[in-house]
Amino acid sequence: MNPNNIHPINDRMLQRSDKEGMLGQKGCVFWFCGLSGSGKSTLALNLERDLHNAGIHSAVLDGDNLRSSLNKDLAFSENDRAENLRRASEVAKILLSNGLVVLGSFISPKKEFREFARSIIGKESFREIYVKAPFETCQQRDVKGLYAKVQSGEIKDFTGSSSAFEEPINPWLTIETDSESPEESSKKLFDRIINEVRN
Ligand code: ADX
Repeated sequence: MNPNNIHPINDRMLQRSDKEGMLGQKGCVFWFCGLSGSGKSTLALNLERDLHNAGIHSAVLDGDNLRSSLNKDLAFSENDRAENLRRASEVAKILLSNGLVVLGSFISPKKEFREFARSIIGKESFREIYVKAPFETCQQRDVKGLYAKVQSGEIKDFTGSSSAFEEPINPWLTIETDSESPEESSKKLFDRIINEVRN
């Protein structure tokens, strides 16, 4: 396809500030990264509910959800993870441009992937949240039964064992889910996030 024949209409659409004004909030993307089973989705869901109750319109973008829909053609090689996160970031950007608070929950195992997400979304609207739990804790929790499958050799390229996870160096926030309850973590998150998104 000749890219010259593509004519995006972004400049003619209502702008983010129009949508934010109507919603009475500021859009922002909160990007939860961390190992499978670290608690990313639990926290994103708690936050979605708490923000909703506070009158903030948010949208959860979750790795497993996208991998069952938009990204179902992708697996867990480095290239596929990069493409998974590129598409997720582009979707987050669309939601952001409509004034929403986006709660993205993706392992995002490499610094390079997270930086790419930040560059697509825009650094002033991107907040990296590291949901931190030791591999052994996630393995013990094994909420989805995946760690058992890794042990039996049924799953390859698994993050934290056969596929690397690079810890964020300077995240906006770190939540240590092995030393506090989901309620404590959710409250801490809500208190930080609400200040960023209230108009
Ligand atoms: S990412 O690496 O591309 O950011 P993403 O967050 O979308 O990953 O998907 C991770 C989810 O896929 C995990 O929570 C888990 O349920 C599932 N999964 C299946 N196979 C793997 C694997 N090999 N490594 C990591 N997660 C896997």
